Amino acid sequence: MPNIYVTRKIPQGALDLLKEKLGEFEINPDDRVLTREELLEKVKGRDAVLCLLTDKIDGEVLDAAGKNCKIFSNYAVGFNNIDLKAAGERGVMITNTPGVLDDATADMAITLMFAMARRVVESDTMMRQEKFTGWGPMLLLGQDITGKTLGIVGAGRIGENVAKKMAHGFGMKILYTDLKGNETLEKETGAKKVDMETLCRESDFISVHVNYYPETHHLINEKNLSWMKKTAILVNTSRGPVVDEVALVEALKAERIFGAGLDVFEDEPKMKPGLKDLHNIILAPHVGSATTGTRTNMGLIAVQNIVDVLSGKEPQYLVNKEFLNAR
Ligand code: DGY
Repeated sequence: MPNIYVTRKIPQGALDLLKEKLGEFEINPDDRVLTREELLEKVKGRDAVLCLLTDKIDGEVLDAAGKNCKIFSNYAVGFNNIDLKAAGERGVMITNTPGVLDDATADMAITLMFAMARRVVESDTMMRQEKFTGWGPMLLLGQDITGKTLGIVGAGRIGENVAKKMAHGFGMKILYTDLKGNETLEKETGAKKVDMETLCRESDFISVHVNYYPETHHLINEKNLSWMKKTAILVNTSRGPVVDEVALVEALKAERIFGAGLDVFEDEPKMKPGLKDLHNIILAPHVGSATTGTRTNMGLIAVQNIVDVLSGKEPQYLVNKEFLNAR
């Protein structure tokens, strides 16, 4: 029987599938991230590890896992927590769980746009604090959504999903930046590929959907925040370090943009000083894909990736092929 470790509890349906296909496995019994020492200890001698985006998988962890380890199956679409090259050099496959979380993550980005535009959190707080004294023509004025311009930074699967929903549902005009063009998106929504400056200057809403690489570190920074409209709303559901949070705090404090919605943070789970004191931001604890259905489906894919690799097949969602091939 293969020796498998799961670094934290994931939905039961996925664990049931793992047991059905591959037999018994060991799982971290506590619903918390393993410490570095625990991770190094627990991966020892495994054939496969199902890990999370909160586990840093580098050369040291891969060495600790040892020569028999064939796969680290990441329970996430993002894999910036893993050193792909180090894994490739050691012949370890790295997989992810794309596709099944597109809708949930896109829906969360849209939720943050709406909630910020219509000041839902401030409204709720006012009611709970019993500060509502009656209807007022100037009370909690927000921003219109229908027919406005949406700038998508990174028009991959999730960015495209957000753009289509907002174009078809709310008649939004779509601008996007991307390394490649997205013909489907252009055809279906009339979206236009533009440079970052144009996107920032012309968009009413800006939603970030890029992977995190050194090249996308602080892609949203002081300079492009300064290009944005005073009425603009920025949303990030991708990875925290894509947005310079210090620059964002300054922009929001000075009300240089209208508001922001963040589901991800630079130093997760910590927040940069000042963020939580702002009234014009909505903060969510990295829950973009957090629906029961989506998280179960992510688990099923993560397990299937392990099943494939341990039965000698190339897994469908292999992300470090180029480094494996370079061995
Ligand atoms: C991912 O999968 O990368 C998300 O950030 C968490 O679901």
